[in-house]
Amino acid sequence: MATTTSDLSIIVGVAIFLATLHTSNILGVEGRAFFVFGDSLVDSGNNNYLATTARADAPPYGIDYPTRRPTGRFSNGLNIPDLISQSIGGTESPLPYLSPALTGRRLLVGANFASAGVGILNDTGVQFVNIIRPFQQLEYFQQYQTRVSALVGAREAKRLVNQALVLMTLGGNDFVNNYYLVPFSARSRQFSLPNYVRYLISEYQKLLRKLYDLGARRVIVTGTGPLGCVPAELAQRSTNGQCSVELQRAAGLFNPQLTQMLLNLNSQVGRNVFIAANTQLTNNDFIRNPQAFGFVTSKVACCGQGPYNGLGLCTQLSNLCPNREVYAFWDPFHPSEKANKIIVRQILSGSLDYMNPMNLSTIIALDSLL
Ligand SMILES: *[C@@H]1O[C@H](CO)[C@@H](O)[C@H](O)[C@H]1NC(C)=O
Ligand SMILES: *[C@@H]1O[C@H](CO)[C@@H](O)[C@H](O)[C@H]1NC(C)=O
Repeated sequence: MATTTSDLSIIVGVAIFLATLHTSNILGVEGRAFFVFGDSLVDSGNNNYLATTARADAPPYGIDYPTRRPTGRFSNGLNIPDLISQSIGGTESPLPYLSPALTGRRLLVGANFASAGVGILNDTGVQFVNIIRPFQQLEYFQQYQTRVSALVGAREAKRLVNQALVLMTLGGNDFVNNYYLVPFSARSRQFSLPNYVRYLISEYQKLLRKLYDLGARRVIVTGTGPLGCVPAELAQRSTNGQCSVELQRAAGLFNPQLTQMLLNLNSQVGRNVFIAANTQLTNNDFIRNPQAFGFVTSKVACCGQGPYNGLGLCTQLSNLCPNREVYAFWDPFHPSEKANKIIVRQILSGSLDYMNPMNLSTIIALDSLL
């Protein structure tokens, strides 16, 4: 029994040694690179550089951010990529790809390609005009790799990408800002809801396959939240504070098929590259029982106007709650920093119901042994 303990400490010692080798690589950059793709839930400011109405670069956005200033994040403070970045030991969050500050060795930290308003489909978010659609996000990723190759050589660039962590968040806007945007939308006349979901999943699979071909080997893919329960939908579609049935049905169809598609992709490529994060379940936990998580409400947004503070945009003229820690929703669509922390805690250590086939803690432990 005594030898078991010392054997274990030798194994742990070797693992730590290997992990040290792994991170203090010849690039001299701590930790692994982190890449982010998707929509406003993970955009850290790319849209600040674009002519679009989908932006979060004015107060009170960022009111609880370390600088107390708006950054383009759709949050009162940190967003999901910031919190994941901290969890994997990143000293700084990857900058928006369009930021002029993203040059030189800062490129080695990774990059954020996400753009508020986008969906899986190119016609999602057309009303926002100038946004970076997912195929374009992937083209930028390719361009990024060329820039990193010029900096550290092609072999190191490839290794950096292969060993990176990737986050992808898409799908909500394909319902909210496309299928259900207006009654009798083009897509809703073209597809029944179940057929639309099947179409989205097949288009999403192509994007993820492309991401794999570009070198991504650990990709966390989040599902949508409970779309019908966000303050915007309660304000527009609910009569008595109940979640919108149609949007809940959409999320209920989309999320399980997304998980299944990711597991299928893993068997195609022969390894666990894609990890499904069940953000619907995590959101449901605090939406159904906000008090258990320290929230006074999950129905009313902190910043907004109209019923549930769910109408229009969050601006300096909006109602603003004094304490953002007790609101699950920051604005009519986006979780507060506090809710983002709950979501990322489940990404890190959730059970198989939340993270399939494994959570981020397990990924970190496995990859440190490579
Ligand atoms: C989106 O547009 C790009 C570029 O035109 C195209 O390559 C891609 O196939 C389109 N995606 C979908 C889902 O239509
Ligand atoms: C998730 O992470 C925790 C450690 O925080 C671990 O105990 C647990 O077994 C993991 N669950 C899965 C399904 O990997």
